[in-house]
Amino acid sequence: MSDQKKASLKKYNTFGIDVQAREILSATSVEDVQRIIKEKDPSELFIIGGGSNMLLTQDIDKYVVHINIKGYTVVDMPFGENELLLNVAGGENWHDFVCYCIDHGYGGVENLSLIPGNVGTAPIQNIGAYGVELKDVFYQCGAVSRKDGTLRTFSLEDCKFGYRDSVFKTELKDQYIITSVTFKLTLKDHKIKTEYGAISDTLAEQEITNPTIKEVSDAVIKIRQEKLPDPKKIGNSGSFFKNPVISQTVFSELRKNYPDIPYYPIGSDQIKVPAGWLIEQAGFKGKRFGDAGVHDKQALVLVNHGNATGSEIWALAVRIQDEVKEKFGIIISPEVNVF
Ligand code: EPU
Repeated sequence: MSDQKKASLKKYNTFGIDVQAREILSATSVEDVQRIIKEKDPSELFIIGGGSNMLLTQDIDKYVVHINIKGYTVVDMPFGENELLLNVAGGENWHDFVCYCIDHGYGGVENLSLIPGNVGTAPIQNIGAYGVELKDVFYQCGAVSRKDGTLRTFSLEDCKFGYRDSVFKTELKDQYIITSVTFKLTLKDHKIKTEYGAISDTLAEQEITNPTIKEVSDAVIKIRQEKLPDPKKIGNSGSFFKNPVISQTVFSELRKNYPDIPYYPIGSDQIKVPAGWLIEQAGFKGKRFGDAGVHDKQALVLVNHGNATGSEIWALAVRIQDEVKEKFGIIISPEVNVF
């Protein structure tokens, strides 16, 4: 465990917002996490993983605990020869984990290539992309209680995963720190998923008909690099808003005025519409207000062109929300956590 007093959080959040923490504590083991919880008042702790899903609008006058636990352990092969359980420490970078799986021939996470953030924070919002969500490969996770430091195991059912949602965002919000995740991966008969339009188009362009997990991962990386900004070059937090879900009735009205609106039916009566499309139609794509902006290739992503403050980015987000509501009557909510 190493400490750093009164430190900038700029390199700990992918938006690159320069706010100060009272102190940064780096936890490199479960025991470190437990020790910090025993020593400090729980209300004085602020937990940070990959910092890829947060917008910091003010200084954090708390002890910022950076979860930096590393390591991979093959747990077992309890489900026959085709499946393996891999336990991954919460502080591992998500994309490094995906690459580890591709290199070792473990299937299941190739569609989730290049998602920013860490393994330990991925279950909180059930990260997803290109037809796959974390819940599809999740077996269980270990998490430390922020109240008393006890280590508990959460099964798939315990986590209550939904679209960008889990128990860690609802009834157990801010109550646990995920220290490791165990994934159920395939060894041979990989369930290749290429139905998502952009993946099949990319593979077809390359004349690949029977893709390997590496080829699917490469296709996803190509698609993401074309549309999404690299946080190392330009600060961002991936999708800033969630895609809103509306009723069939509201959607039918909307479609009369906007026949080209893209949509995904959910169940029998609900429709998910892309927030990126709504924001683009509201005229924000590629717009810039000082250093706060909307990405020019994907309107769902807000960006920090350099020295934007968190408040400036938040002001832009609120303006977008207001104008989307005004134009379409639809409320879009942030996917990122705003502090
Ligand atoms: N669209 C526009 N204009 C835009 C952006 C999108 O018209 O500026 C349209 C696209 O043409 C497309 C539709 O909206 O018809 C959907 O766009 P896309 O396929 O890019 O996906 P998305 O709904 O914008 C979601 C996830 C992404 C994930 C992709 C791919 C959410 C909030 N976001 O985005 O997740 O990578 O699908 O599966 O569900 C993230 O969470 O950080 C993230 C990038």
